[in-house]
Amino acid sequence: MDVFPRKLWARLAARVARSLSFHNYARQDAAGSRRLRDAIAGYLQIARGVECDGEQVFITAGYQGALGLIARVLIRNGEQVWVEDPGYFATRAALKWAQAKRVAIPVDGEGLNVEAGMRKAPAARLAIVTPTHQFPTGVTLTISRRLSLLQWAAASRAWVIEDDYDGEFHYRGRPLPALKSLDRQDRVLYCGTFSKVLFPGLRMGYVVVPPQLSDEFASACVCLQPAGGMLEQAVVCDFIEQGHFARHIGRMRQLYAERRAALVTAIERWCADSLHVDVQAGGMHLLTYLARGVEASTLQKRASAKGVAFMPLSQAAIEASMKPGLLLGFANVPVNGADSAARRLQEVVAATFLEDQ
Ligand SMILES: Cc1ncc(COP(=O)(O)O)c(C=O)c1O
Repeated sequence: MDVFPRKLWARLAARVARSLSFHNYARQDAAGSRRLRDAIAGYLQIARGVECDGEQVFITAGYQGALGLIARVLIRNGEQVWVEDPGYFATRAALKWAQAKRVAIPVDGEGLNVEAGMRKAPAARLAIVTPTHQFPTGVTLTISRRLSLLQWAAASRAWVIEDDYDGEFHYRGRPLPALKSLDRQDRVLYCGTFSKVLFPGLRMGYVVVPPQLSDEFASACVCLQPAGGMLEQAVVCDFIEQGHFARHIGRMRQLYAERRAALVTAIERWCADSLHVDVQAGGMHLLTYLARGVEASTLQKRASAKGVAFMPLSQAAIEASMKPGLLLGFANVPVNGADSAARRLQEVVAATFLEDQ
């Protein structure tokens, strides 16, 4: 967020605000601005291999808003939904409000264990997955698992929700195209967000639905109005159409690679006895394992007093037994701040280890 091009953003926003027409002041398209929906469809084809028409794209308040919309349209009370275990806590919370029955499906070295899902809940209505970069393990769903997930969905008339939250940030080679790009039977709803590629406070994302669901989603949008205001949609659209988006992603990928390398080096220097870094190919956080299990909340409280924040790995688990570990975001840690952050983390972990003896 410290290097976001704020001046450029402010200039685009001012221009948009000045150029609003009478028409813009009236009602907006409930599915989101058509120009933005088309721009997203164009971007997805090039960047993620997803072929879709703007008609299939619905603007939402981030991934969380997309999931809320999907739940309202597709989930009926008590229906089963596969979720990854370990997985994203906010997905589980959204399912609770949708009164869905969450079924924890284990994740292994190949991603979601589809066979386990078929054994545990063969008739589930939905499966929610992070195939590019599983949250929090960083594993990529293998091709054979992708194909069996799609086969299961087609055979059982289930839907697959692809949460592609950080697919743009990959540091070794090119990431696999989205799962949606293999979806010949039209069973995948693809969710993208601007939280990672622009900034989370924007609260903007989108869902691409299969063509046979477009009308139903369009009607639901009239009632639920998930797209938010048109001013910010127009700014995002100009940002994409004028080429700033592609440039910004390229610049951030480079910067994050540097910040990631700096934090890995700093942790290896300061925390070698207490933390082991499992370096992943992509993402915006480091997966680290603690040498010993400690009370995560004590560690978190202590760290926070020193200005260090992380997420205990255990918070991502439902039934899975996880090695004790911490997720460390590196995107907002400048290269010259990595050493001090790692040193403070080491002090906190060492003190907690000592106390626990
Ligand atoms: C797994 C996962 N999905 C989605 C998101 C993005 O959520 P939103 O678009 O609601 O900000 C995040 C953000 O941290 C995430 O970790």
